[in-house]
Amino acid sequence: MITLILFGPPGSGKGTQAARLVEKYGFIHISTGDLFRYEMGNDTPLGLKAKEYISKGELVPDAITVGMLENKVNQHPDAKGFILDGFPRTIAQSEALDALLSGKNSEVTKLIALDVDEEEIVQRILKRAETSGRKDDSDESIIRNRIEVYKSETTAVFDYYADKNKSKQISGMGSIDEITDRLFSEIDPLI
Ligand code: C5P
Ligand code: MG
Repeated sequence: MITLILFGPPGSGKGTQAARLVEKYGFIHISTGDLFRYEMGNDTPLGLKAKEYISKGELVPDAITVGMLENKVNQHPDAKGFILDGFPRTIAQSEALDALLSGKNSEVTKLIALDVDEEEIVQRILKRAETSGRKDDSDESIIRNRIEVYKSETTAVFDYYADKNKSKQISGMGSIDEITDRLFSEIDPLI
């Protein structure tokens, strides 16, 4: 089983690219942000809890996020692969992921980080806000906080997997097709 972590700051194109990878490789796409938004849309207890954090651009506590991710992975026992988008975002989440996969005699295959300039990210997210309906996309101060949280909590995940020789950074600038081609070049040799 292949487990890819599609990594990068908010607005770096993870969701857009994940859809293309699913089409080519038939892996299961798990976006923890999308899962939270589904729960929030249905006003579930999990959604209401998550909203307290997401509305401020902060991270939902690890225990909640990890539990939700584990449930989702366990729903697909026959998956040939997973694309994780927006998870793990902390070292604790990375350790929990490794433990989960290790229990399935598996491991993270590769982390691929999309590198995008900070100002480009802010502009992309503000543009996305026009159609996404996401409150955390439409307020520049919340976007800036999400970027700060990415720097302070999440970039360490890149180093965590780099220590295991699993991290690779590619450019997330340019056209969507160009970025997809860069990703295919990284993933094809793993299949
Ligand atoms: O991944 P995405 O940008 O869609 O996530 C939206 C929000 O969901 C994040 O800003 C954060 O508040 C929350 N989230 C989280 N932990 C994750 C994924 C998302 O707290 N692992
Ligand atoms: Mg996303």
